[in-house]
Amino acid sequence: MFRPKIRPRRLRGSSEIRRMVRETQLSVDDLIHPFFVTHEDKPKTPIQSMPGQYQFSVEELIREVQSVQALGVLGVILFGIPAVKDAVGSDSCDDNGIIQTAVRALKQNVSGISVITDVCFCEYTDHGHCGVIKDNYVDNDATLELLQKQAVSHAKAGADMIAPSGMIDGMVGAMRAALDAAGFDKLPIMSYAVKYASAFYGPFRDAVDSTPQFGDRRTHQMDPANSREALREAELDVREGADFLMVKPALSYLDVIERIKARFDLPLAAYNVSGEYSMVKAAAERGWIDEQKVALEILTSIKRAGADLILTYHAKDAAKWLA
Ligand code: PBG
Repeated sequence: MFRPKIRPRRLRGSSEIRRMVRETQLSVDDLIHPFFVTHEDKPKTPIQSMPGQYQFSVEELIREVQSVQALGVLGVILFGIPAVKDAVGSDSCDDNGIIQTAVRALKQNVSGISVITDVCFCEYTDHGHCGVIKDNYVDNDATLELLQKQAVSHAKAGADMIAPSGMIDGMVGAMRAALDAAGFDKLPIMSYAVKYASAFYGPFRDAVDSTPQFGDRRTHQMDPANSREALREAELDVREGADFLMVKPALSYLDVIERIKARFDLPLAAYNVSGEYSMVKAAAERGWIDEQKVALEILTSIKRAGADLILTYHAKDAAKWLA
């Protein structure tokens, strides 16, 4: 019988030893919970394609954020569903828009949790695109001007951090300049620096009704086949003054997370997006997988790849599981 001298299994013999040699620790501190907030009065409307997720009224959002804060979650990111959508997404820049209203309410009623706002236009435009449309194309520089307005308006409402998600060239630099000019030089920017044109956003677009009415997002979001380009995108955002970088989606892009982490020293976030969440939910509902084990394995793998922070719809559950 062959007897190997070296036996890695020695380090797996008991749960104590396994814990001693565990390389990656997932903690509630790593998790940011995304929430959808609407102008509607109905407290919570279930999102069909994202079991366990809701569109919350502002009142109900306060209660929900209080409950995740009590579980130790340190941050939430907000997406708004406005009462009215138009060609330029006016609600997103309005000091009384849905996000501004929600941020003010949260800052008045909940402490101990950072309120991050997603800055984009696709939830607010009637055509569902991430900016101003000119000749069937998202007009870059005209969109930058509106992004500056939106960012300053979120800052005035009291947002703790701003997260531009449109993959518009120059978005971080433009927003940094506008925020600084308005006196918000201390407000951090978490840039969706590396965001792919991904089919994994399907359920999210249902949730906020932001499916493009024509065309797609491939003229601004990245081609899933590229990773060297991700380095270039991240480099630009670092130079423009980003405080955090983000890679999105997470699960199909663990290699990209690893590359960005190796090259840049800013804190790195990864977005475990709607489609990644809903696949787990759907399979778990059928009894095909164990939701808790699979979700924690996914989150651990995202962290192992190099993410410091994970935006995930599983944040509330994971906070309970990790307690
Ligand atoms: C754009 C935005 C999107 C997501 C976050 N911010 C959608 C898109 O780019 O189409 C997707 C998040 C998810 O799928 O969970 N505002």
